[in-house]
Amino acid sequence: MLCQSNDELQLLVNQAREVIHDGNVADYIPALAKAEQEKLSVALFYPDGRLYSAGDTNENFTLQSISKVLALALALIDHGEEYVFQRVGKEPTGDPFNSIAKLETNKPSKPLNPMINAGALAVTHMIKGESVEHRFERLIEFIRCLSSNETISYNEEIAKSEYDTADLNRALAFFMKQHDVITEDIEGLMDLYTKQCAIEMNCNDLARIGCVLAMDGRNPETDEQIIPVDVARICKTFMVTCGMYNASGEFAINVGIPAKSGVAGGIMGSIPKKCGIGIFGPSLDDKGNSIAGIRLLEMMSRQYSLSMF
Ligand code: DON
Repeated sequence: MLCQSNDELQLLVNQAREVIHDGNVADYIPALAKAEQEKLSVALFYPDGRLYSAGDTNENFTLQSISKVLALALALIDHGEEYVFQRVGKEPTGDPFNSIAKLETNKPSKPLNPMINAGALAVTHMIKGESVEHRFERLIEFIRCLSSNETISYNEEIAKSEYDTADLNRALAFFMKQHDVITEDIEGLMDLYTKQCAIEMNCNDLARIGCVLAMDGRNPETDEQIIPVDVARICKTFMVTCGMYNASGEFAINVGIPAKSGVAGGIMGSIPKKCGIGIFGPSLDDKGNSIAGIRLLEMMSRQYSLSMF
């Protein structure tokens, strides 16, 4: 049986806290280094509207790589599968999320999947709109709709801090421009991508988005089909194969649910037909995933038999 109370979750949060000091907060984006390492929160949102949560649930955090799943959904809605997958692949890399290595060796030159930084930049490039501002407005409105929260905004300080220091991502983008995967001005794309990564919410909002994906793109409360069924299926499949970067295989064995992490410490889980999970814990392991967040999911998976496999 799935979790039925906040107290049950609180017990798991208390146990998962034990590993917090085995990790570190991200500091390659300078503003993320200010995060409080001890924070940890979890929320579960069920299709019938029940929400269970525990820990620092009011803490906001930036989506970072979790936004890659949502940008992919919007690009697929905008262009369809064929167009998108001509420009970005469907295969895991086994490399760190910001690696440039396979971009050069893969032929034809396109990023291997939409969850690594190179692939995410190619996907953000595909979001339609008349200007960078308009494209960002479309993306954030889409995310407000998915989370049923009209107040969702982005953290300007973190966006600027990443924009000012994102030279590795700039290098990936310039490489792809040389190979016609990206055709727009790179600074405009970096502006859009860093704002996308800096979209902010708490674990409750994230659990609601996970639940929409779990319910095949439908908002269970309003019955609105926000994401087409096939697009939701593709997103969840990438979450299984590439969502936790080069720890995705181990995560599939130990937890066994579609999930996507971000370097601010968020993890979005989506258990098909059952519920959405939102987690925040900024202390990261060496692969860039929330160390206590993963511990929490491992315990939840065992206690509630969550594995799909
Ligand atoms: O592009 C970057 O490096 C960040 N904005 C996002 C990376 C990220 O979240 C990787 N996650 N584990």
